[in-house]
Amino acid sequence: MDKMIVGSGAVLNGEVAVSGAKNSALKLLFASLLAEGEHVFRNVPRLKDVESTATLLQSLNCQTDFEGDVFKVRVAKPGSFEAHYDLVRKMRASILCLGPLLAKYGQAVVSLPGGCAIGTRPIDLHLEGMKALGAEITLEEGYVKAKAKRLKGAPFLFETVTVGGTENVMMAATLAEGTTILENAAKEPEIVDLAEYLIRMGAKIRGHGTSVIEIEGVNSLKPAEFSVMPDRIEAGTLLIAGAITGGEVTITKAVPEHIESLIVKLRECGFKISATDRTVTVHPLKQCQAVDITTNPYPQFPTDLQAQFMALMCVAQGTSVISETVFENRFMHVQELTRLGADITPKSRVSVVRGKPGGLTGAPVMATDLRASASLVLAGLVAKGETTVSRIYHLDRGYENLENKLSSLGAKIRRSN
Ligand code: UD1
Repeated sequence: MDKMIVGSGAVLNGEVAVSGAKNSALKLLFASLLAEGEHVFRNVPRLKDVESTATLLQSLNCQTDFEGDVFKVRVAKPGSFEAHYDLVRKMRASILCLGPLLAKYGQAVVSLPGGCAIGTRPIDLHLEGMKALGAEITLEEGYVKAKAKRLKGAPFLFETVTVGGTENVMMAATLAEGTTILENAAKEPEIVDLAEYLIRMGAKIRGHGTSVIEIEGVNSLKPAEFSVMPDRIEAGTLLIAGAITGGEVTITKAVPEHIESLIVKLRECGFKISATDRTVTVHPLKQCQAVDITTNPYPQFPTDLQAQFMALMCVAQGTSVISETVFENRFMHVQELTRLGADITPKSRVSVVRGKPGGLTGAPVMATDLRASASLVLAGLVAKGETTVSRIYHLDRGYENLENKLSSLGAKIRRSN
């Protein structure tokens, strides 16, 4: 199994381009199920999760072709409408084929995703939303079985803000009869990207990017072309890599507005951050100051950057209180950061980090989930000696060539098996 070996002491400097967003690409690929024919997506990152999505689409009779960053999906009527457990358990986002299959073909059988390292992560709101549109849903032998003659537009209020739930129900509503109004919808940029693609396919959607999304159902959609938005979590991770090493790093092909909450916090830490239309630069700082963060749905601080920011706080001056409100049990990286010498007290959804400038030491550590692995790599950049991060397959699910990108900025990092 691959490991990442991270050496310390390098001050990162230079420019690095952000890849297409994983969390948008996956949903766009699933949206293709809403229209037979050839869909073309550009700026698609080469990631394990994209591969898993391709495998799932192939099992639903789609042909896929991935060259450079162009991903083509040729959609044809599936022979069976089932997303098997073997595919879904590898990637929770597989549940996103439920809405499109149900809306287009009136049936879907999707395995329940099961347990997950960052909390229980239910899908009840996806199912409630489908039911509100008239779907009949049963749970049998670990599978969600959904049926509907034709979905009917309806109002639906999400009890909690859910990104995947909003996406699933929004996709389902595009082919429903009548108008659907989603309230308390998620406002993440990935939702806007998906809505823009659906509109290109012929869907009638308004309000995406706000908490009320209105979808007027249409009879059919057609395939289209689309370029995936930049990955805001990768952008944030690379920016923190620059910050933690005290270097000057410019992220290009990014959308600064998408990481505004991180930029605000980095400025509070004392960093000078400059931005243009498509770039963000973090400037060198002698000593980063500790600040508190609370994760929340967009536009507030993203849960997907919590672990990486915690790595920075481990070497900041002062004490930081990190509150995680989106997921339960998302502090698995704390134990591993502690192995590097960090001083952290985790308490259910709040961790107190007592910063130790220059105080981390390299050690073997284990990645527990995707973003946690990134935080260990970041900490490794400043931990004295060598840090070996094992179970790096988590990282490969969501970061395209992270080690190459970091090496291009001067980091001492290599993969080994
Ligand atoms: C997506 C992202 C993930 C990110 C998360 C929050 C993808 C592939 N993943 O995950 O990287 O961390 O948004 O920004 O895009 N909930 C329910 N019932 C539901 C659905 C969710 O109670 O039916 C709860 C969850 O347990 C969690 C909260 O809602 O506490 C937010 O989850 P959600 O926004 O749905 O996360 P994902 O879409 O799975």
